[in-house]
Amino acid sequence: MKNIIVAPSVLSFNLFKLNEQLQTMKAIGITTLHYDVMDGHFVDPISFGEHLFKYLAPKPFKADVHLMVTNPLPHAIWFYSQGAEGVTIHYEAIKDNWQDFLKAIAPYRQGRILGLALNPETSVKEVLSLLEYFDKTMVMSVHPGASGQSYIPGSEKKVAELYQAYKDLGKEPLIEIDGGINAKTAPLARKAGATILVSGSFLCNSEKPITALEELVGK
Ligand code: DX5
Ligand code: ZN
Repeated sequence: MKNIIVAPSVLSFNLFKLNEQLQTMKAIGITTLHYDVMDGHFVDPISFGEHLFKYLAPKPFKADVHLMVTNPLPHAIWFYSQGAEGVTIHYEAIKDNWQDFLKAIAPYRQGRILGLALNPETSVKEVLSLLEYFDKTMVMSVHPGASGQSYIPGSEKKVAELYQAYKDLGKEPLIEIDGGINAKTAPLARKAGATILVSGSFLCNSEKPITALEELVGK
């Protein structure tokens, strides 16, 4: 069984209990936290951005930043400059100028992860020619914009398609899935080849986070 990384989404934390939640995550062995940055334009809500990041992203956690923003370049540069391990931008935000985006971000990547997220409406076929330029892909299994939504049935098929596409390219697949991941949906995603599972409400609001984590990882 491949190593599964579970990245809890800070969007689902109770910020009144931030320290407690961070302690819990550390205690159960979480190493990476997921940051949902929303600009009120690419998606309707505004969540948090640069200003709050320093409070929400303490060491030793690695930061997996998910940019749901229309203009990802300046934000991606900033999050890399703050030591984010990974920054994921949306295909839909850069589809008309992806070559320019890649050129501009190149000096700031410095070995860190650059991810490409696909909205539920975007097919794998559409992004095939971009795969080789990104370190990972992220399948959105809900419509971006909120936590606590239900998994869109069949999202794991997209994971499987991406998995095969990576193999065809001769590239090791690195696939993340985000939205509605819980004890029922995590096994589908894992089986299809996802190795990074984002979990918002299921893990962060759980009374028994260690059990929830075990269910997600499947051990
Ligand atoms: C949705 C976000 C997700 C979300 C996950 O826009 O990208 O990361 O917070 O939350 P759950 O696991 O509750 O769907
Ligand atoms: Zn996310």
